[in-house]
Amino acid sequence: MYNLRNRSFLKEVDFTAGELAYLLRLAAALKLAKYAGNEVPRLGGKEIALVFEKTSTRTRSAFEVAAHDQGAHVTYLDPSGSQLGHKESIADTARVLGRMYDAIEFRGAAHAAVEELAAKSGVPVYNGLTDEWHPTQTLADFLTMQEASRKADEEISYCFIGDGRGNMARSLLAMGAVMGADVRICGPAGLLPPDDVRDLAAARASDSGARLTVTDDRAAALAGVDFVYTDVWVSMGEPKEIWRERVELLWPYQVNREAIEATGNPRVKLMHCLPAFHDRATVVGREAIDEFGLDEGLEVTDEVFGSPRSIVFDQAENRLHTIKAILLATLG
Ligand code: CP
Ligand code: NVA
Repeated sequence: MYNLRNRSFLKEVDFTAGELAYLLRLAAALKLAKYAGNEVPRLGGKEIALVFEKTSTRTRSAFEVAAHDQGAHVTYLDPSGSQLGHKESIADTARVLGRMYDAIEFRGAAHAAVEELAAKSGVPVYNGLTDEWHPTQTLADFLTMQEASRKADEEISYCFIGDGRGNMARSLLAMGAVMGADVRICGPAGLLPPDDVRDLAAARASDSGARLTVTDDRAAALAGVDFVYTDVWVSMGEPKEIWRERVELLWPYQVNREAIEATGNPRVKLMHCLPAFHDRATVVGREAIDEFGLDEGLEVTDEVFGSPRSIVFDQAENRLHTIKAILLATLG
C-alpha cells in the first residue's frame, strides 16, 4: 500500500505510477461501495475549503459530493466572495485557511499560486485546474479508460487532438508518461506542448516505458488509438479576440466522423473533459458557430459527441469517485 497522508495533489509528475495506480484502485472501490449502498464515511469532522478563481460545474460538484458522502464539510469561496486576489495575497490567504481547514482545493490561473498555497498553508492542497495542469481530471480520465478498455495502463493508447499547449494536453501527456501508456498529442505546430513539459514527460517515460508522440500529423497521431480526446479551442481566461486565430489553426483538427474513421479502430471512444462546444445550445458555442460557419460543432461535431462511442459523461461521473479517493488517501 501507499501512504499519501497529508500530501498535496498539484500535478501528475509529483507522483509515482504506483501511487496513482493506488488512487485509481481506491476510486474504483469507492465507486462500487457507493453503487452497493455500503460506503463508509471516514472523513467526519474534516473541513475543506473550495477556492475557485475560475468557474466550474464538475470540479466543484465532485468535491462537494465526495466530501458530503464521506462526512466532511466544505466552504465554497468564489472569485467575488473572498478577498483573494483583490485585497489579500495567496501567501496570507494560505496562512489563514490553514488555521481553519484540514485541506484546500484551489482552481485558478497561475500554477505558482496553487504551489504557494501548498507551501504556506500547512495542509494538503488539491489543484482543481490551473492554466498549466488539470490533474484531478486526468485521474478520472484514467479510471474511465481502464473501465472502457479493460486494458493494463501500459497497453492503453490515446490521442489528444486540439490545443496542445493547454492544460488538458499537458496533463494528459504527463499522466500517460507516468503510467506508461501510448500517448499522442496532436495539433498545429504553434499549438503543441512547450519543451519543458515534453522534457518532464520524456524523463518519466524513460522509467515507465511510455511511448510519447507530439506531432502536427493528424493521420499518424490517430492511427490505431483506443481513445480520441479533445478540449475547447479557447480556454478559460483567454481573450475572446483569440477565437478567430484559434479556429483558423484548429479546424483541421476537429473531431468529426472522418477523424474517428482515421483511427482505423471500430471500437475507438471519444473523450472530452467538458464543457464542450458541439452545438448551438450555449452562448459561446452559438456565437462561434455562427461567426465561423462551423455548423457541425467546434472542437467536436454534435454527431460524434452524441454517438455511442462517446464516454464523456462517464468521465464526468468519475471525477466524483477519483476526487473522493484523493480526499480519503490524503486526509483519511
Ligand atoms: N472538466 C472540468 O473541470 O469541468 P468544470 O470546469 O465544470 O469543473
Ligand atoms: N482547457 C479548459 C479545460 C476546462 C475543464 C479550460 O482551461 O478552460
